[in-house]
Amino acid sequence: MSMEILQQRLHETAAKGLLRSLRQVEGVGPRVELAGRDCLLLCSNNYLGLADHLVLKRAAVEATFRFGTSSGASRLVSGNLALHDALEAAVASWKGTETALIFNSGYAANTGIIAALAGRGDIVFSDRLNHASIVDGALLSGAKLVRYPHNDAATLGKLLEQHQTSGLRLIVSDGVFSMDGDLAPLRELVALAEQHAVLLMVDDAHGGGVVGTEGRGSAAQAGIKSGIHLQMGTLGKALGSFGAYVACSHQLREYLINRSRSLIFSTSLPPGALAASLAAIELVRSAEGEQLRQQLAGKVALFRVLLQQAGFSVPDGCTPIIPILVGDPVVTMDFSRRLLEAGFFVQGIRPPTVPTGTSRLRCTIMASHDPDDLRSAVDAIATVGRRLEIC
Ligand SMILES: Cc1ncc(COP(=O)(O)O)c(C=O)c1O
Repeated sequence: MSMEILQQRLHETAAKGLLRSLRQVEGVGPRVELAGRDCLLLCSNNYLGLADHLVLKRAAVEATFRFGTSSGASRLVSGNLALHDALEAAVASWKGTETALIFNSGYAANTGIIAALAGRGDIVFSDRLNHASIVDGALLSGAKLVRYPHNDAATLGKLLEQHQTSGLRLIVSDGVFSMDGDLAPLRELVALAEQHAVLLMVDDAHGGGVVGTEGRGSAAQAGIKSGIHLQMGTLGKALGSFGAYVACSHQLREYLINRSRSLIFSTSLPPGALAASLAAIELVRSAEGEQLRQQLAGKVALFRVLLQQAGFSVPDGCTPIIPILVGDPVVTMDFSRRLLEAGFFVQGIRPPTVPTGTSRLRCTIMASHDPDDLRSAVDAIATVGRRLEIC
């Protein structure tokens, strides 16, 4: 009976055009092999191409040979390695904060941090387009969840007036929105947090390494030096490694070590991932990192303009996440399938990852993309888009 219920649920998902399946991909781009076919990768978060950079690979291999393949335990037991401390010092120096704390993934960080900070009687204010891991953290916390319209600081201000508590209040926002590629109004969020004496947390999963001086992220891009209590970021996207961090004060770090269940009850990151992350931070801060960001910015600008010229309504922007809105999930997946047949891998994104009615192709650009390949991609996107009456 229970299995039949599950099967029925899967049927319902499929009937809505929302069934998902895994595809095997060989390589990390800019070209990959998918189902035995060579294609251009246009949906990876490996924006700077660091996931197969020799320096990171060497660091991971050397640390693995030296220290082993696992940390062997959670950090509070015997899994707190010198590499954890070194990585936290490197993150804090890069982000310009007192200290930092490493988590096993961005998902573990967001759920672990938010559920540790907030609880019953507290209120979490979350942008409507925030990543699912933020929403899950807020739900897990048991706090009241108040979702505000996307990037609408004026409405958030009113909601802060309306929703008072004797407990804690926390504003959380993506720094760079993962499915839209736009930036949060961080200066306004900092001002609101100060005015209402609430905590502010920014998820910079897609900003770290990519925007701001030395790739420090969206706060640096906005010229903000203080006022964001927790700057979370991932190590598995532009940084080409695995794991996540929160850059914060000593006090918050101590609190999270004592209260964050995803940190306390999970084996810590292995030496290879930690060493690769350390190498990645050094690299994004170097002249080579700057060069990669400049290459990326040039290709992002090219791709956006080419899409606009082809008739797509693509906003201007500096991030490598470029959505092409389709609306219907079935048409979106058809769009993606036809592009794959033409040699271009662009993943279709459907609810619940994005709101109903806003299914889209989420194109992402890498510093290593060949401009001619990007031109061919836009030609193919325009040809299929016209056939599907998207542009
Ligand atoms: C905005 C945002 N936050 C958090 C995460 C989760 O990060 P991770 O992939 O390291 O679990 C992602 C990635 O999917 C993301 O896009």
